[in-house]
Amino acid sequence: MTHTPPHTDPLKFAYWVPNVSGGLVVSKIEQRTDWGYEYNKVLAQLAENNGFDYALTQVRYMASYGADHQHESTSFSLALLLATERLKVIAAVHPGMWQPGVLAKYIATADHLSGGRAAINVVSGWFKDEFTKMGEPWLEHGERYRRTEEFIRYVREIWTSEHAELSGDFYRLHDFDLKPKPVEVEGRPHPEIFFGGNSTDARGVAGRVTDWYFSNGKDLDGFSEQYADVSGEAARHDRTVKFGLNGFMIARDSEKEARETLREIVAKADTEAVEGFGDAVKQAGQSTSDKKGMWQDSSFEDLVQYNDGFRTNLIGRPEQIAERMIDFKKRGVNLFLLGYLHFQEEVEHFGKHVLPIVREMEAEEAERAA
Ligand SMILES: Cc1cc2nc3c(=O)[nH]c(=O)nc-3n(C[C@H](O)[C@H](O)[C@H](O)COP(=O)(O)O)c2cc1C
Repeated sequence: MTHTPPHTDPLKFAYWVPNVSGGLVVSKIEQRTDWGYEYNKVLAQLAENNGFDYALTQVRYMASYGADHQHESTSFSLALLLATERLKVIAAVHPGMWQPGVLAKYIATADHLSGGRAAINVVSGWFKDEFTKMGEPWLEHGERYRRTEEFIRYVREIWTSEHAELSGDFYRLHDFDLKPKPVEVEGRPHPEIFFGGNSTDARGVAGRVTDWYFSNGKDLDGFSEQYADVSGEAARHDRTVKFGLNGFMIARDSEKEARETLREIVAKADTEAVEGFGDAVKQAGQSTSDKKGMWQDSSFEDLVQYNDGFRTNLIGRPEQIAERMIDFKKRGVNLFLLGYLHFQEEVEHFGKHVLPIVREMEAEEAERAA
């Protein structure tokens, strides 16, 4: 397979906000990470001072698979925006739980309070109980994505039009004018819209309406396959989409030490929680006809990091990780979404020991290309 470098912009970095308990791996290994606000406030400040552009909050409404407690995503995101100066914070939101006008309004306000740093990650829902226990209908897979697509179109219309007028199968707008609109930021027509999902339905939505596509952890060819599908659909609609790739980073002084940490995470996995999660997500994905839904082919080890983050293989010495990132960049990755065992320590370690090598390699690539 040959690959033309799809972009030459510096890589961007985001981290998973640990706003749910249990950390980013479903394992009983020690994790010096806390889901509370005080920890997260310091983490956000550390992140923006160590090269991170974005933070991504998670949304879960109910205890599930190792995540017994959770802080709500939009309010937590706003708190982090107010505690930082440059970091953009992406709030995860479910279309089935929000009316598009209410969400557009909330984010417009958050955008004003933060000088144009608010963003959203639209998640379609994989956890049936979360919907049914709140008395909300649980739609079949394809319908969930039709709703997501409509939701994104409506939110964008509200942010950009003075007379938002739309009528669809899930939502309606009648000459709606949001005031104030979000902050005007150069190069950003409205707060950025992120979105994730592996299925064919999800790839189509990403190509047609989102600004960013988040990929679960992948190896190089796995990422390229998604890149081809999503950017192909985007091109058919005369648009471009940027790509974020999830990866669980274990950067240590030696590769042996990093591999040993991975081995220990998996050896100490909370088997019952991992298997319960595996069953729930496979059911959610199995309703897709082509079985391409996320987690369809995830092994037990993959599911210990619930977004397949080991597959990206950001595990080893800082140089090895930086090289791997550049290889992914050549295939179209614009941003890495990173998770860690010990967030505060490792975010700082990334800024001091991995990022400078990435930037050096990017400068060398640019020189070669000139
Ligand atoms: C980076 C990323 C972040 C996600 N965050 C959340 C989240 O916070 N809450 C949630 O319910 N689902 C979340 N999801 C799950 C997706 O919305 C979707 O349900 C899942 O990827 C399955 O999609 P598929 O059936 O199209 O493969 C996330 C997915 C990705 C890739």
